[in-house]
Amino acid sequence: MNTDIVSYYKDRALEYEKIYSKPERQEDLKSSTAILQKIFANKQVLEIACGTGYWTERIAEKATSVLATDINETVIEVAKTKGLSTEQVSFEIADIYNFPAHDKFECLFGGFIWSHVLLQNLDEFLSTVNRLVKPGGTIVFMDNNYVEGSNHAITKTDDHGNTFQARKLEDDTTHLVLKNFPTEDFLRKKIKDIAGEIRFYNLKYYWIICCTTKAYNSNS
Ligand SMILES: C[S@@+](CC[C@H](N)C(=O)[O-])C[C@H]1O[C@@H](n2cnc3c(N)ncnc32)[C@H](O)[C@@H]1O
Repeated sequence: MNTDIVSYYKDRALEYEKIYSKPERQEDLKSSTAILQKIFANKQVLEIACGTGYWTERIAEKATSVLATDINETVIEVAKTKGLSTEQVSFEIADIYNFPAHDKFECLFGGFIWSHVLLQNLDEFLSTVNRLVKPGGTIVFMDNNYVEGSNHAITKTDDHGNTFQARKLEDDTTHLVLKNFPTEDFLRKKIKDIAGEIRFYNLKYYWIICCTTKAYNSNS
């Protein structure tokens, strides 16, 4: 069974957006869109792990500009078919952990990537992400709440408490996918080192955490 998250999303590119057709999630998707559009209105946004651009398209409706990045070219190719304004939205293949040189951004959005970071790597992930954003900027993460019957069942928990799901793609390959479901309390504790003000939105199927970034030590 494949356990590599990057190749899993590379192979899932063409079927990825079926996840956004689940009938029970439609109300939450509308609410989340409204929350994100309000936060990012008239802002310059870096999107990490943009995937097929579902949120890129929605954020771009209100943001000044979006640089949408992902490690996988296959997902970016799907995002590019959406016909988003090339003056406002640009795409770049980029690994979060080896990010190409850019000036720091006003805002950063990471949708459904937090859950795929090992618990023991979260501090490194957050400090990496924080370095991409100006002090006093905004960082937003969104991800899933676990709702029985709507999410894949958890099939494995490791010694650190990371949880995993067995998922099948349409080509019948199976993948053991890291998928953590943090509580609000855990999210707030993890993010507090980089955050000034924190806002948390808890919907039924999704959570969104938004924080302003503190000044940081470039050696950290
Ligand atoms: C669950 S998908 C989320 C896609 C999109 N943000 C959304 O919400 O629809 C996770 C994405 O993270 C990307 N990814 C995984 N590891 C990455 C890394 N190290 N750097 C950049 N992107 C990564 C995958 O290619 C995939 O597109």
